[in-house]
Amino acid sequence: MKITFRLTISLLFAAALVASVFTYTQVQNERATLIHELNIRANVLGESLQEQIKEYIQTNRTVRLRRLVERFGNRAGLVGIAVYDSQGVCVTSSPALKSNFQTAPAKVWESVARNETISGIEKLDEKAAHFYSIPIEEDGRVLGALLLYHDASFIDARLTEIWKTNFFRLMINIFFIIVITVLVVRWSITGPIAQIANWMRGLRTGKVPHSVAFPRGDLLGPLADEVTLMAKSLAQARSSAQEEARLRIEAESLWTSERLKEHVKIELNGRNLFIVSNREPYMHVNNGSMIECIIPAGGLVTALDPILRACGGIWIAQGSGNADKETVDAGNHIPVPPEEPAYTLRRVFLSKEEEEGYYYGFSNEGIWPLCHITHTRPSFGLQDWIQYQKVNQKFADALCEEIAGEKDPLILIQDYHFALLPLLIKSKRPDARVAIFWHIPWPNPEVFGICPWKQELLLGLLGADLIGFHIQFHCNNFLETVDRFLESKINWDQFSVERHGQITSVRPFPISVASSFNDGPDDKPSSSFESKETILKKAGISASYIAVGVDRIDYTKGIVERFKSVQRFLEKYPEFVGQFTLFELGAPSRTHIKRYHDLMAELDETVDQINWSFQAKNWKPIVFLKAHHSHETIREYYHAADICMVTSLHDGMNLVSKEFIASRSDEDGVLILSQFTGASRELSDALIINPYDIEETAEAIYQAITMNKQERRKRMQELRTIVKERNVYRWAANIITALSHMRTK
Ligand code: G6P
Repeated sequence: MKITFRLTISLLFAAALVASVFTYTQVQNERATLIHELNIRANVLGESLQEQIKEYIQTNRTVRLRRLVERFGNRAGLVGIAVYDSQGVCVTSSPALKSNFQTAPAKVWESVARNETISGIEKLDEKAAHFYSIPIEEDGRVLGALLLYHDASFIDARLTEIWKTNFFRLMINIFFIIVITVLVVRWSITGPIAQIANWMRGLRTGKVPHSVAFPRGDLLGPLADEVTLMAKSLAQARSSAQEEARLRIEAESLWTSERLKEHVKIELNGRNLFIVSNREPYMHVNNGSMIECIIPAGGLVTALDPILRACGGIWIAQGSGNADKETVDAGNHIPVPPEEPAYTLRRVFLSKEEEEGYYYGFSNEGIWPLCHITHTRPSFGLQDWIQYQKVNQKFADALCEEIAGEKDPLILIQDYHFALLPLLIKSKRPDARVAIFWHIPWPNPEVFGICPWKQELLLGLLGADLIGFHIQFHCNNFLETVDRFLESKINWDQFSVERHGQITSVRPFPISVASSFNDGPDDKPSSSFESKETILKKAGISASYIAVGVDRIDYTKGIVERFKSVQRFLEKYPEFVGQFTLFELGAPSRTHIKRYHDLMAELDETVDQINWSFQAKNWKPIVFLKAHHSHETIREYYHAADICMVTSLHDGMNLVSKEFIASRSDEDGVLILSQFTGASRELSDALIINPYDIEETAEAIYQAITMNKQERRKRMQELRTIVKERNVYRWAANIITALSHMRTK
């Protein structure tokens, strides 16, 4: 109310001031105009009488003069006329002036003395009157004076009228000013503010659902985004706090983003966290005239983005989007995630030749098939090896630039693209604490021994203080490989390698996903997901059961085997023909490599052949959705599916299996999981299969479909407990703690 009152008073004061000044000016002008009109009237009358009066005075005809005065003295508006001789004696006057005007008043003397007309307003019998004194002269000699009095009382009446009218107008203005001010203030300021206060109070007390938008008003528009973000952070903080409180009560030690943030703050002690990977977490691509930001497919990004979101820091990665260069600053930096920046992405740009040799060639045609036992032959070319070394050096230079101002920086290198980077960094910056996490399997020494540059790769890796794998088995393989090919001291008790005084620990850190497992802002309620029917309708088919497969299209993922097992299942259990469909969400990957190109063709052909063999009008056994799918879309499918099929022929961990579990807040759905994934070591309540065994996988589909709800629920609950506890925050906390507590030289 205070603001309304203050605003109204100020406006009223301004309006009253303006009205008074204008009215005063108008009154002055009107007064001047009316007096001027009286002057003209008096002048016209005086002029018309002057000649006759002069003649009568000269000829001393007083009777005539009196008659003349009496005749004109009765004119409307004229109070009276008096004629004086040169001595100031009244020669004649009209009756109204008789008593008081026998001798000439001062203004007549003055007019005679100055021989000029004098006029003005004065009181006559308590009324305003206009006097007009005209000297009567002949050849410069003053013979007398004529005094005219006009009634001027109407001037005051007129001026009073103006004051009254304007006062009345002011009152009307005041009324409207008050009404409009009150309404505008209420509509545009106090109303929206009260609404926002209510909304914020609701958020504070947790009574407003997060989906309810900030009440916008044009005046408050600029605040909307900031306050919405604040609300989101508040909701996240609240859900984390609730989770922490729940954990304290349960005396559990669950890792959350908040807990990781606090933990990393202590471990890093004010330093930044540096991550290096080939694949960037956010990629900018041209989409028509627009630039679109996409999140690349693959487990690495899925796992690491939430960590840097929680801890902040710098992520160095290859800029591989075709609009990446346009979106970075001069230092090739860009704050990400775009909608709510939490850390910095530093892009390293490669030439076509570098990308060809280092990424497609050495990394993906050499190391990838070398480490995945899928019977795809690795190929190692000298040119690819040269580019691999060159690009590792290029990333080392970029990393050195970034850590230049940091003492004892903590660096987490990712994957097989950077086997040489740990040594390159350590030789430049011995104070750095370097870990490399190998996201793919590590083969046994016989297999690794195929690589012509095995020693160089091992030496590069042993530059790190810590090497992480998903499972113990890969750690064992690594130590055996080092033992076989390098002069070094292996400490099997400590699981470390010592070489020229440098100690490298080798430890398992099973990676996971960042599931919040609560009703925080990132978790949609079950009811808001697309239903199975909607998904089927979009595909133009009908079915009772759906399975989902989510993969980068890669020969290690066992997609052909998966399709064949669907075919076999339908052959064995024909009652499910027309009832069961597999949706395969496949993101095209590394398509420049012939093996991947051929795989794509093989998959298309297999799907065509299977769908053809079960030809039906409104149904297909397999819907192959070949595209880059957003996380949101994938979650819709996870949620609608009865089964998720992970049939990798060899996989370091496989995060699809964990994402599926994390997204099933309804505690339903069955996971079919390959025994050749790292995940199968933890997720024993999945239906574990050998993907090469088509019969077994077909049986698993049958078992999943016919499993009763109680068992599905029990299994999913067990799986969710594991994924919930062993989440990616725990993974990051373990690896960061291990690294920061390591003794370096
Ligand atoms: C695997 C690798 C990652 C890689 C991802 C996607 O998960 O371990 O390092 O980023 O596949 O592959 P891409 O070649 O597209 O980066």
